[in-house]
Amino acid sequence: MRILFLNGPNLNLLGQREPHVYGRATLADIEAGVRMRAVRMGVGVDFRQSNVEGELVSWIQQAKGEFDFIVLNAAAYTHTSIALRDAISAVGLPTIEIHLSNVQAREQFRHHSCIAPVCSGLIAGFGADSYYLALEAAINVNAEKRPAA
Ligand code: DQA
Repeated sequence: MRILFLNGPNLNLLGQREPHVYGRATLADIEAGVRMRAVRMGVGVDFRQSNVEGELVSWIQQAKGEFDFIVLNAAAYTHTSIALRDAISAVGLPTIEIHLSNVQAREQFRHHSCIAPVCSGLIAGFGADSYYLALEAAINVNAEKRPAA
């Protein structure tokens, strides 16, 4: 099983960016935590970040045939991007929307997600643990999909 973790704009600044909202862990710390757990669970992961909407769209398109699952923290594009929503829908790979912060407890403009209707589920508000919970969820859903031996 292979899982693609995608991170949107400004997540490269984690650690220094509004630590009271996003915590002190850097994106590299979170990637290391994901990779450590993935090795333990016997799954392959790729972990990428881009500030460019089109690059995220291209990565989603290219994931077909390469990955079984996408875990996506689309950051601010969550709230604005019809292009990301269409890419997820077009590719048809199961995708989990994640956020470090509890977006529902924040400003009104963060309450709407363009991508939620085309995602399998949503995990938000647990800091770096949102990533680890998504890893676990993807593995469990994938195992349920498999025909019993
Ligand atoms: C975020 C929440 C978004 O609203 C925000 O634009 C981000 C980060 C999160 O992980 O909490 O950049 O996706």
